[in-house]
Amino acid sequence: MATHDHNEHRPEPAARPQPHAAGPCAMVIFGAAGDLANRKLLPALYNLAAARLLPDGFAVIGFANDELDTDAFREEMRRAVNAHLPPNFDPALLDWVLARLEYVVGDFLDPAAYDRLGQALAAAQSKHGTAGNALFYLATPPRFFGDITTNLGRAGLVSEAGGQWRRVVYEKPFGRDLESARALNAVLRGALGEDQIYRIDHYLGKETVQNIMVFRFGNGIFEPIWNRRYVNHVQITVAEELGVEHRAGYYEKAGALRDMVPNHLFQLLALTAMEPPISFEADAVRDEKAKILRAIQPMSPEEVLTRTVRGQYGEGALADGTKVTAYRAEPGVAPDSATETYVAMKLLVDNWRWAGVPFYLRTGKRMKQHVTEIAIQFHRAPFMLFRETPVERLSPNILVLRIQPNEEIFLRFGAKVPGPELSIGSVDMEFSYQDYFGGAPTTGYETLLYDCMRGDATLFQRADHVEIAWAVVAPILDVWSALPPRTFPNYAAGSAGPAEAGLLLQRDGRAWREI
Ligand code: BG6
Repeated sequence: MATHDHNEHRPEPAARPQPHAAGPCAMVIFGAAGDLANRKLLPALYNLAAARLLPDGFAVIGFANDELDTDAFREEMRRAVNAHLPPNFDPALLDWVLARLEYVVGDFLDPAAYDRLGQALAAAQSKHGTAGNALFYLATPPRFFGDITTNLGRAGLVSEAGGQWRRVVYEKPFGRDLESARALNAVLRGALGEDQIYRIDHYLGKETVQNIMVFRFGNGIFEPIWNRRYVNHVQITVAEELGVEHRAGYYEKAGALRDMVPNHLFQLLALTAMEPPISFEADAVRDEKAKILRAIQPMSPEEVLTRTVRGQYGEGALADGTKVTAYRAEPGVAPDSATETYVAMKLLVDNWRWAGVPFYLRTGKRMKQHVTEIAIQFHRAPFMLFRETPVERLSPNILVLRIQPNEEIFLRFGAKVPGPELSIGSVDMEFSYQDYFGGAPTTGYETLLYDCMRGDATLFQRADHVEIAWAVVAPILDVWSALPPRTFPNYAAGSAGPAEAGLLLQRDGRAWREI
């Protein structure tokens, strides 16, 4: 197998860093041979190299228990990354990234392995010029987070004493309830300062999610109407067409609530509802997010029964007609599983801006269509003017921030249908990211990795966010575990979710947007 000297294939000058490139550093990937590394992290590094945002002094150290050496690891990554990059990728640039890959075999729980990791970091510093800076990325099952952090601390690998920086990135899930999240935060704080901790929520890597702040605060016309005087309610939908795939081991214990709500859905809610921060500085933004999460009214056990709905998919068919099995028939799932694959809830945000405006959240697997969106529904215009006309009702204006599958924003309003008789039709004013900006394919991890290398924690969750979010869902977890579901499965795969979810809004005289 050929070894790649890092100078040999360097494309000149394409990979030369541009002025905003990150400073020199090494990135250590724990769980380097895993799915996340090959599907997302390495392709993201390639994309950053293509954008010339990686420093010249850069190295990646893969750390895992698989018996590989550096050459075999590079080859494995080449194969994997090849499969995940667009067909027109530049092979020389991929070589540039792969030549910076090193591999250390080690058990996450073995302190001696961390000495070898320390030596590899020192070697990368002299070979690749990483200046002693390091970013440790924990792409591992969460049960290892605590031990890896403690071992990094014991081995002195997260010390910033020499003026270099050391940061640790944690993938979700961060704990499985308030207590475990608190315990994990305490372990982390034993080895790291909060400014060294980067808790990832990959939704914040999505362009349209980042655009929520620009849309709200970079335009003069939306913020004045962004409150209870004009907004009737908000619907946040994260519907997936996919089922549980091969993740039953994790998902059976997590369920839709833990998997999606305190993280992705609450991040969307926070960005939609928070007050304008005083700057884009990380803690200014994160303080506002913490405030809004804290303003979510906790539910009493009775409210859990009336304001939340859980569901599990039965067998059904996808939009293209493909027949799919029930959740309980998926590999690794218990035949009498009580795990929810769908959740809907009504939340109230108790502050001046949002008093009385419900936020309806729903997320589910095996739904009719893949769609992630935030819909702001405004109050209807008064009807009296139309009393004597054929118009029977006025539709509300709706502003939709569509995040997936197409990144777009549209505003729905009423327009006169041409003709002598007065009739109003709902029409959309649309903006599509793709049309305006084209679409360079990204993994969603580019911005997050780049920000972490530059020490910008704005898009990462702080300890208090994670704990507040778990505190909000705690009563739901408690009531649901005390009262096992009796009607599962209660929605067909490929449908819009359980009928009870419809009632949740009907009771308020509202309806979900069609998926
Ligand atoms: C992950 C969840 O965090 O997000 C998955 O664990 C879910 O269950 C995924 O499928 C959804 O992410 P995206 O980016 O595909 O919307």
